[in-house]
Amino acid sequence: MRPISAPTPAARFRRMRRTPALRALTQEATLGVGDLIWPMFVRDGAGISEPIPSMPGVNRLSIDGILRAAEQAATLGIPAICLFPYTDPALKTADCAEAWNPDNLANRAIRAIKAAVPDLAVMTDVALDPYNIHGHDGLVRDGIILNDESVEALVKMTLAQAEAGADILGPSDMMDGRIGAMRSALEMAGHHDVAILSYAAKYASAFYGPFRDAVGASGALKGDKLTYQMHPGNSDEALRLVERDLREGADMVMVKPGMPYLDICRRVKDTFGAPTYAYQVSGEYAMIMAASANGWIDVDRAMMESLLGFKRAGCDGILTYFAPRVAAMLRGM
Ligand code: PBG
Repeated sequence: MRPISAPTPAARFRRMRRTPALRALTQEATLGVGDLIWPMFVRDGAGISEPIPSMPGVNRLSIDGILRAAEQAATLGIPAICLFPYTDPALKTADCAEAWNPDNLANRAIRAIKAAVPDLAVMTDVALDPYNIHGHDGLVRDGIILNDESVEALVKMTLAQAEAGADILGPSDMMDGRIGAMRSALEMAGHHDVAILSYAAKYASAFYGPFRDAVGASGALKGDKLTYQMHPGNSDEALRLVERDLREGADMVMVKPGMPYLDICRRVKDTFGAPTYAYQVSGEYAMIMAASANGWIDVDRAMMESLLGFKRAGCDGILTYFAPRVAAMLRGM
């Protein structure tokens, strides 16, 4: 496509910017409540709402609080929430067995939400880090993150989450071959309709810091995730990963983090036309909140602009901690 314009003054771009009505008519990308997935942190206990210092406005909630948040999401019209468990350190082991315990915190939360708010889509996290004494997304032996053994563990986790009623599984681990293994296990178990949103192009990023505090993985994690997450300089590799995951049976794909990787979102959408999502991660949220707390930027405007950027870059939706705030704003509440 090559947009054509007359020379100035025949073409004056300011004509169509003159009033709110004309600006509305010429707006290309839009953000709607239906574009949002709301990530939230669940912890054990009852009546608990525990602030996460590096994520102002975000709390770890016990399941009763998660249920209230799920109802709030439904009222606001947010189509999906995504659950991340804060696991009791005493339950973390080297084999990560708590990850596929049918009654672990995440699976109990899924069941409770699906019973109380059945129309809300529940997305999960498929990765071992919350359960791993080593803090890594895969099993560790002699300092090496094992691929195929980790995939076997992720498949067990997958089946437990599907059994609990999850609508969308979100493998965030970046092991090779996990999508195909998860998909065939789901088919064999009769879970034909459980969707997979693959964290296909997930970069080794500094912007995950606040999240690791939120799920209690910061202390456990030694070293970095560079042997399985992507190098920030790579772009063609992202396309190869997305293609691989789509061929293995992913229904949707994700680029993560969001704002530093908008070019990847655009390439992925243009190349494959698959449902494409960005994760506006904890550090992106923290930056906007911290700058606004200092009085340096306007949080609502920065929030809206950053989210619209994802739509402009071709994303079908965004995982964002701003989901309830922006949904309320979009609905004029
Ligand atoms: C780990 C996982 C991470 C996030 C989601 N799942 C962190 C990591 O890879 O270390 C980050 C989300 C965020 O920063 O908001 N499985």
